[in-house]
Amino acid sequence: MNSNANPNPGGRFDGYADIHKALRAFMGDTLAKVGSLDPEDPAESAAVLGQVAGLLRLCRTHLEHENDFIHTAMEARAPGSTRSFAEDHEHHERSIRELEDDLAAAAKGGEGAAARLYRGLAVFVAENLEHMDREEVENNAVLWAAYTDEELIAIEKALVASVKPDEMALALTWMIPALTPRERAAKLSGIRAGAPEPAFLKVLDLVRPALGGTGWEKLKRDLALAV
Ligand SMILES: [Fe+2]
Repeated sequence: MNSNANPNPGGRFDGYADIHKALRAFMGDTLAKVGSLDPEDPAESAAVLGQVAGLLRLCRTHLEHENDFIHTAMEARAPGSTRSFAEDHEHHERSIRELEDDLAAAAKGGEGAAARLYRGLAVFVAENLEHMDREEVENNAVLWAAYTDEELIAIEKALVASVKPDEMALALTWMIPALTPRERAAKLSGIRAGAPEPAFLKVLDLVRPALGGTGWEKLKRDLALAV
């Protein structure tokens, strides 16, 4: 365990923070739902297995974006700095393919298939939780030493521009509720500043159902929304 009391004391730009919160929330929720799945309920099975498929899709594209943008940037100025993370990513890609096989078996209702999917997903989640923490500590240290915040923001913008609309919608559906109210308002203000109003309102429609408790009221207040 390598988390510090304050992992970002300099307040540097952290491109991992929000998407990793989204993935942690998506993984935790999905794992719990697979664990409690009623295989005799076709509608519930379809919904939960569909959620697993979405999670595996997002995990795969997430690691591709990290390879293409983050690791490329790290290697450009700190050669060799991504080696163990690249190995992790190859391992995760193999795990995703195995989980997709388990998922297909569970969808066919095979004996013990849902239980096998649950156990496999639990290990995958455990490995990813540790991996993401290591990225936030070790990779951010490399990035912060080698790049200015302005450069890191430019890399992040290029990464985000490469994300396909359906992947972005899925990521935001999990990301916005996973953030603190303050982070949520900042993220949505940024989206509002960079997108036409109808696109911004679509994002709000997407995330509103998942904002429990006082989340929606706080967001309305923070964004001065009249909806
Ligand atoms: Fe990663």
